[in-house]
Amino acid sequence: MNPYKIAVISGDGIGPEVIDEGIKVMKRVAELDGRLSFEFTHFPWGCEYYLEHGQMMASDGMEQLEKFDAIYLGAVGFPGVPDHISLWDLLLIIRKQFDQYVNIRPIQLLNGAPCPIDNGTKETIDMLFIRENSEGEYAGAGDWLFKGKPEEVVLQTGVFSRKGTERIIRYAFETASDLGKTLTSISKANALNYSMVFWDQVFEEVSLEYPHVETASYLVDAAAMLMIKNPARFEVVVTSNLFGDILTDLGAALAGGMGLAAGANINPEKTYPSMFEPIHGSAPDIAGQHIANPLAAIWSASQMFDFFGFEDLGKLLLDSIEELLVTKSALTPDLGGSASTIEVGDAIVALIESKYVNNK
Ligand code: NAD
Ligand code: IPM
Ligand code: MN
Repeated sequence: MNPYKIAVISGDGIGPEVIDEGIKVMKRVAELDGRLSFEFTHFPWGCEYYLEHGQMMASDGMEQLEKFDAIYLGAVGFPGVPDHISLWDLLLIIRKQFDQYVNIRPIQLLNGAPCPIDNGTKETIDMLFIRENSEGEYAGAGDWLFKGKPEEVVLQTGVFSRKGTERIIRYAFETASDLGKTLTSISKANALNYSMVFWDQVFEEVSLEYPHVETASYLVDAAAMLMIKNPARFEVVVTSNLFGDILTDLGAALAGGMGLAAGANINPEKTYPSMFEPIHGSAPDIAGQHIANPLAAIWSASQMFDFFGFEDLGKLLLDSIEELLVTKSALTPDLGGSASTIEVGDAIVALIESKYVNNK
């Protein structure tokens, strides 16, 4: 049995704290299951590395990463290094160069998770966000002219290619079709008179190939309001890079907070490794206190199991997270508990072990 080779970039702040727990859980699941194993290789890249070496990763970092089956990433960014440098030179460059153009972010309220709205239940908050992850507002195109002069001008250009727009929308239709769910597109064609008019047009075109998928299309401002007022309205959702970034933090708040929000950066063609990460950042405000919630990182490990074709193990992890949320036997302070990051990881391992004992 060949081990799955996983590159680990724990990164900054709470990144290493939560990734340690994710790895602990993955190792134990593999041991108990016996059908697969993992080989983890740790890369010390991030803001500390930058302060020492003047760069966020090794010069041949991308070549090193290319050989892995997947990347497991904690968080990037810390006070002392400008965010646009730390994020562009590590996280965003990986997403882009490895053509991880699909960002899958489940917004799913599990039983036991806190929800800030009255009508929030497991049935009403069950969305799958498919965020464009390679271009759009994050194309990195632009210029900074006449810096510091009165005539200073800054340009940040959105890039929406036909290839990039079509492939993400088609991926979303395929997903909605497979799941038998509705597909909602979120854009902003009333104000963004090139990019979003084009987005809407491509959505219309591709929808003709999927007449059996029920669709809806909202402006992003209205969508933000509707996600709170009527979250059940959203099942599979496809949107641009920036809108997806913002709306999935809003979604995270609906589904229990940043400590429970997971994401997968997928290169569907498998030409390059895909990358799995909690969607939260390095949380400098709580870093080093050992109270970061590792459940988002563990949920992204569950997405990794799904990606490798072990959906039963992905579900096992998710069921264990839900059971922990219901029993509340070990939760970090963000979820109202007083457990440490390690205690939560241990509790998930114990729940998984008990499931194996009960099944055998
Ligand atoms: P953040 O997600 O780090 O923190 C926002 C708030 O949520 C904080 O109060 C934090 O304590 C809380 N929080 C986040 N994750 C938590 C967890 N697992 N358990 C408990 N509480 C948690 O966002 P921010 O403060 O805007 O950004 C901090 C840094 O992280 C910045 O440098 C930013 O650029 C970077 N960032 C990185 C990523 C990434 O690597 N994927 C994502 C977002 C932000
Ligand atoms: C996320 C993060 C990143 C993004 C940042 C850190 C560049 O907020 O993964 O949601 O905007 O994509
Ligand atoms: Mn974000």
